Amino acid sequence: MNTLIDNITDEVTKAFVANGYDEKYGKVTLSNRPDLCEYQCNGAMAAAKEYKCAPFMISDKIAEALLGNSMFESAESVKPGFINLKLNGEYLAQYVSEMKADEGRFGCEKTENPKTIIVDYGGPNVAKPLHVGHLRSAIIGESVKRIGKFMGHKVIGDVHLGDWGLQMGLIIVELKERKPELVYFDESYTGEYPTEAPFTISELEEIYPTASGKSKVDEKFKAAALQATHELQQGRRGYQALLSHILNVSVTDLKRNYRNLNVNFELWKGESDAQPYIPDMVQMMKDKGYAYMSEGALVVDVAEETDTKEIPPCIILKSDGASLYSTTDLATIVMRVKDYNPDSIIYLTDQRQSMHFVQVFRCARKTGLVDEHVQLKHIGFGTMNGKDGKPFKTRDGGVMRLEYLLDEINGEMFKKIKENQKEKENLDITDEEVEQTAKTVALAAVKYGDLSNQASKDYVFDIERFTSFEGNTGPYILYTIVRIKSILKKYEASGKSLPQGDILGAHSASEKNLMLVLARFNAMMENAFEETAPHKICAYIYDLSNAFNSFYHETKILSEEDEAIQMSYIGLLMLTKGILETCIDVLGFSAPDRM
Ligand code: ARG
Repeated sequence: MNTLIDNITDEVTKAFVANGYDEKYGKVTLSNRPDLCEYQCNGAMAAAKEYKCAPFMISDKIAEALLGNSMFESAESVKPGFINLKLNGEYLAQYVSEMKADEGRFGCEKTENPKTIIVDYGGPNVAKPLHVGHLRSAIIGESVKRIGKFMGHKVIGDVHLGDWGLQMGLIIVELKERKPELVYFDESYTGEYPTEAPFTISELEEIYPTASGKSKVDEKFKAAALQATHELQQGRRGYQALLSHILNVSVTDLKRNYRNLNVNFELWKGESDAQPYIPDMVQMMKDKGYAYMSEGALVVDVAEETDTKEIPPCIILKSDGASLYSTTDLATIVMRVKDYNPDSIIYLTDQRQSMHFVQVFRCARKTGLVDEHVQLKHIGFGTMNGKDGKPFKTRDGGVMRLEYLLDEINGEMFKKIKENQKEKENLDITDEEVEQTAKTVALAAVKYGDLSNQASKDYVFDIERFTSFEGNTGPYILYTIVRIKSILKKYEASGKSLPQGDILGAHSASEKNLMLVLARFNAMMENAFEETAPHKICAYIYDLSNAFNSFYHETKILSEEDEAIQMSYIGLLMLTKGILETCIDVLGFSAPDRM
């Protein structure tokens, strides 16, 4: 289905052309004065310059030409030369009816030109617990991925595990100190290694920070860890076996955590998977003369003439020949091109990694790792702050583990829902159901709280505000959906079945406004995809919920006596529910049946 705004633009453009003006002046936008009109065209203002006349002479003609048009209820020329438009109610209802008939898509067509897009998000590090810093990457990345899928693209989410480097050596050395008798350390051993890991996830999560702490004060320990890392990377059997235990235990735990966040990855690749691609890549960069030695390191220049600030060279190998974070990311690009030939790779990390990605992307382009048409995009997000405006920490100042944070919010939500049930005297709900509902609502609170901000901005993680049932919050959106579900249920309980037919022209201003907001769905979704901007979906569903709730408060729906009108109302409810549910699914959360 064409977007409504395109349909309107087409009509207005025709009027411009019919009056002898260029078609480019017919562009229509959403009104910025909803008290005066619904849509507006400012083309006469610009056209006046070309045609050397007063703008209102043009806007007058256009408004007159549009008068008889069945698409509009009114078309007004307003000095100095604006054209204010209101849609005809029947036309709008027809548009909204077509949306409703287009079940599941609601007028938003899938792309005719599907692209392969890799979304690199999550980025947890093996053996380190997930902390709040990983939350944004997971939440925003999951939504970016789902938006792309909804638009019909082939989108592949890759967790890109941090499973390479010193942290592995640290764990190995620490483990060796604790349990030297383990067979993994016996170099003469040639048999099979045990399938059971010699540690649990909680041990692992304690071993790593301990080892990391030691390495900062104990030179010998650090040297041993470096050596172990080196031997691991050279393929020492016992260490390789330990690595797979570390990976298994860690990944099992990570999967559980991500499942609780309703985040799913298509690929569980890690930094280690890219390592085999490094030697050939480095050789190519040398052979083609891109990489050269500078102060002992192998580097590629990536500065460009137009740079306004200094962009340092991309370091490919350190002086000891070791690879770096950037080397791994470059090799990962090689691997992804080979495996998936993507049109686009989108990375989600903290903004503080921006320079890293500028260097990596430029280096990848310059050395020809990707074709020109391939888009490499870094979405750097801001910091999640506490109420004090500083990065979010636990009460005692430590890094907050994601699990504990979510538990806390689940608890908060549980209390709220209990209270709400008591108020509504809905006492037939079991504690188990409340607990399940609390989890669903809590997740919406956290995700919406994050996604409703433009990603690049810092935001304050305010549990109290996020969990509120009122205002611009996830629970408010869910509350709206639950309200609609409940009306539909009552309607069906009265023996009527949900109507398939058309929606009638609006009977009130609030109903028309609801239709106008509904009709923006396809254009909004396309735009959210183009701009990789989940916050636009949040802003939209907030508008939609407000529009619905105004309509709801002003309209008797279940007691409406005119059957046809009631059916039309119910149709509107079905469409509103369908769109809200589609949007929250794309954002990565869902609604309960009651709350
Ligand atoms: N593991 C990294 C971190 O914790 C994030 C990885 C992001 N993705 C990437 N391709 N560099 O900071």
